[in-house]
Amino acid sequence: MSRKFLAAVGSAALALTLAACGGEGAGSGGDTSDKKPADLTIGVSMPTQTSERWIADGNAVKQKLESKGYKVDLQYAGDDIPTQSQQVDQMITRGADVLVIAAIDGTALSSQLQTAADAKIPVIAYDRLIRDSKNVDFYVSFDNYKVGVAQATALLVGLGLQNKDGSKGTATGPFNVELFAGSLDDNNAHFFYNGAMDTLKPYIDNKSLVVKSGQTKIEQVATLRWQQETAQKRMEDLLTSAYNDGAKIDGVLSPYDGLSRGIITALQNAGYGGAGKKMPVVTGQDAEIASVKLINDGVQGSTIFKDTRLLAEQAVVAAEAYLQGKEPQANDVKTYDNGVKVVPSFLLPVQTVYKDDIKPVLIDSGYWSAEEVASGQAKS
Ligand code: BGC
Repeated sequence: MSRKFLAAVGSAALALTLAACGGEGAGSGGDTSDKKPADLTIGVSMPTQTSERWIADGNAVKQKLESKGYKVDLQYAGDDIPTQSQQVDQMITRGADVLVIAAIDGTALSSQLQTAADAKIPVIAYDRLIRDSKNVDFYVSFDNYKVGVAQATALLVGLGLQNKDGSKGTATGPFNVELFAGSLDDNNAHFFYNGAMDTLKPYIDNKSLVVKSGQTKIEQVATLRWQQETAQKRMEDLLTSAYNDGAKIDGVLSPYDGLSRGIITALQNAGYGGAGKKMPVVTGQDAEIASVKLINDGVQGSTIFKDTRLLAEQAVVAAEAYLQGKEPQANDVKTYDNGVKVVPSFLLPVQTVYKDDIKPVLIDSGYWSAEEVASGQAKS
């Protein structure tokens, strides 16, 4: 219904858009159901190539769409907001019929999304919700709150406060822990942190976990653009401030493998993992190959595996539904309020990976090979 409504109010703007780009491109003006895949283009906007998960996502979406005969305009924005805005603008003027966007800043693409809506180009938010805009049609992601719960649970399990089956562990603490969150402009960072903090709070309240720095608010522990170096620097600062009295740190909640590696480097530089200074339990996310090796080597405690192959598949299913003039099937229509509307979503489950899970979950499913895990490097 909203699509038809938008189609009506957007037609004048569409004419302008078409005029502005010489009367060519700018999608198919909405109805693509009678077109052949070869005449349809999907614009895929990914945030960065510094993290291998986004490279895998981009490649998987492209390859799946191309195998169905569609044309794909895949762009990476180098974690730079103006670049992403410009790339999405270009996708629209080059004739995208559907947009699949993993936003750097979930609120920064409003004008591009308005242009897309005016041209009746459906927009699918990929993994990261686009906020504060009515012009987002669908969302494909994982259960991001559960990612946070799983990360916090892995921290508790690693410390021995809880067993893998959820029962109470034999350890009692108190354990010194520090908390990290992702980029505040990424909606997911809040879901991860909320899930984690809801899980850790009882342990902080009963003092079996002590956040020695006192930094527990997301604003205090966030990491702009999910940068590894920023996390490393903050960990170094924490060690020289909150831990300069000889106290040891036992665990670190980290929301993403890249941050975990920065944190681990800071810890190693301070002697952790060496004689008499046990490496703290460090969590993660994304099953990046360098971190899977660290888990295999007993350095990083865990990661959360989100199968990007399945996410890419869902993005393709949703894109294809729009191209065929249908609405994609949601499995969640209440969780993801973007500030303007609840965006219908398709959410996938997540899986915690400890050392013992590497073979059954990652190697046996073909996500990584045994050689890649041993070397810590992805084969291209
Ligand atoms: C994704 C995570 C990823 C993070 C950093 C988030 O939006 O959901 O999988 O670790 O961005 O790239």
